[in-house]
Amino acid sequence: MKERLAMAVHDEIASLVRRAAEIVVFSGAGLSADSGIPTFRDGATGLWNNVDPDEVASIDGFMRNPRVVWNWLRELKNLVDDRQPNPGHRAIARLERIVADKRLTVVTQNIDGYHSRAGNADVLEVHGTIHRLRCHARCGFADEWGEDLREPFPCPQCGAPARPDLVLFGEALDPEVFTAAGRRSARADVFFCVGTSFTVQPAAHLPVWAKASGATVVEINPHRTPLSEVADYSIRAGASQFFAALCQTLAPDAVDATDA
Ligand code: APR
Repeated sequence: MKERLAMAVHDEIASLVRRAAEIVVFSGAGLSADSGIPTFRDGATGLWNNVDPDEVASIDGFMRNPRVVWNWLRELKNLVDDRQPNPGHRAIARLERIVADKRLTVVTQNIDGYHSRAGNADVLEVHGTIHRLRCHARCGFADEWGEDLREPFPCPQCGAPARPDLVLFGEALDPEVFTAAGRRSARADVFFCVGTSFTVQPAAHLPVWAKASGATVVEINPHRTPLSEVADYSIRAGASQFFAALCQTLAPDAVDATDA
């Protein structure tokens, strides 16, 4: 019964995708769990269960002791660089190719850059990226965070601190990026939410906006979250399993070389 129910739900979601014009995939750290990147709040391995985010990932922490934040994020970047996108990222990139006649936007809270590396073209990184540095005073300086940049340094253009181009706790999101994410969410016909605990605002508001604007909201998470009551479908599954199965349902015969 359960299996049959799951198949029926799957077919319903696939037909919603076929009828959609605009699709959003909203992702969180759970999508990168299968790549070996720890999530933030999952049990014993959750990053915030082992270190104080105020000390290593907040703007106050950076102003108090930039080296502590720099070193902690550098370690995270080294892990991200050593790992790679997983079948869940690749299936979402394949989904974009399958629904090429529609607009599929990825809105991610993740800073690992894995969606773009997997092949998605339209990615909004609402929490920024761990791969780039910028001037804290936003004078215009930006650079790739190369191997050699192991110490905090002053912006070469204006002397303010250089810092990773990601959103630290206590900071606002980039208004341009978040406005674009809000617009896509409000226009979505189907809004997938994958691998997020819906803990952090304002990003966690995006699925609520989507639903209020008429989208069908599909949550994919092995565990219940505050969104589970609101979502039209709350699928107890892992990201890789769900999106690979959705692509198989939508394009059973297509052979996709990247699905290695
Ligand atoms: N597939 C889908 N979901 C998964 C998987 C998986 N394989 N593994 C874990 N999850 C789910 C967990 O059940 C949890 O609900 O992913 C979620 C991860 O939640 P968090 O660790 O809180 O990550 P996230 O929601 O992305 O955090 C949001 O908080 O720390 C800030 O800026 C940081 O972007 C981050 C934001």
